Amino acid sequence: MTDYKNIVVLTGAGVSAESGLQTFRDNGGLWEGQRVEDVATPEAFAANPAFVQKFYNLRRQQLLTPSVTRNAAHDALAAFEQSFLGEFTLVTQNVDNLHQQAGSKNIFPMHGELLKARCVSCDSVCEWSDDILAESACGHCGCRASLRPHIVWFGEMPLYMSGIEEALERCDLFVSIGTSSVVYPAAGFAQVAHYNGATTVELNLEPSAHGSKFDKAYYGLATQVVPNFFAKL
Ligand code: OAD
Repeated sequence: MTDYKNIVVLTGAGVSAESGLQTFRDNGGLWEGQRVEDVATPEAFAANPAFVQKFYNLRRQQLLTPSVTRNAAHDALAAFEQSFLGEFTLVTQNVDNLHQQAGSKNIFPMHGELLKARCVSCDSVCEWSDDILAESACGHCGCRASLRPHIVWFGEMPLYMSGIEEALERCDLFVSIGTSSVVYPAAGFAQVAHYNGATTVELNLEPSAHGSKFDKAYYGLATQVVPNFFAKL
């Protein structure tokens, strides 16, 4: 078994690609001719809530398609966490629930969760698997037209940052999986871990924006490189 005592794993859309969920930058990052970064903002939601809700309603529907399920990469991470005697933290930029489906426990979904809705009136967060519509009422305060996806939009603060920063301070191994490493603050986590003395590893289909800066890198499909890497650790 490994000598590492404190492992932080960061995942991105690439870990869920083989589950049938498109990554963000695969199709040029466009949706209905608009950059995803222009749809996923508080300003876009204020200007055209129905348009932004539609984007997330379609993604939620896709996530709930029976053919979309966890894959061997999600399973390998959950199994490793269960058998590891040290501290294991999974930070994911993904808003799907596939890591949770696989059984990952100590997980920080820093960009929010598609299967939750947040009320902008009372700030409560609830489980949500249907479309969010203009007439949808908050289950907590009953307010209508106040629900938004529980998603961190561009310009908003990611969730769980203090827990993530603490884990990055303590870790001796940092593994980045299936992310293009272009969206901050997640794109900077490898460097923070490196400054704190951790070994850094990239597992991805191809070198990411910071690929050359990792101590080690293994390239290929997540369903192959992730189980291989954690089996050998
Ligand atoms: P991207 O779409 O930017 O990057 C996905 C990465 O996964 C790329 O580097 C691909 O090469 C890699 N990849 C694709 N298929 C793979 C496979 N089968 N196995 C392994 N790797 C594969 O997605 P993210 O980096 O996750 O933010 O994007 C970061 C954030 O940008 C997202 O969380 C989202 C988006 O805008 C918000 O919504 C706030």
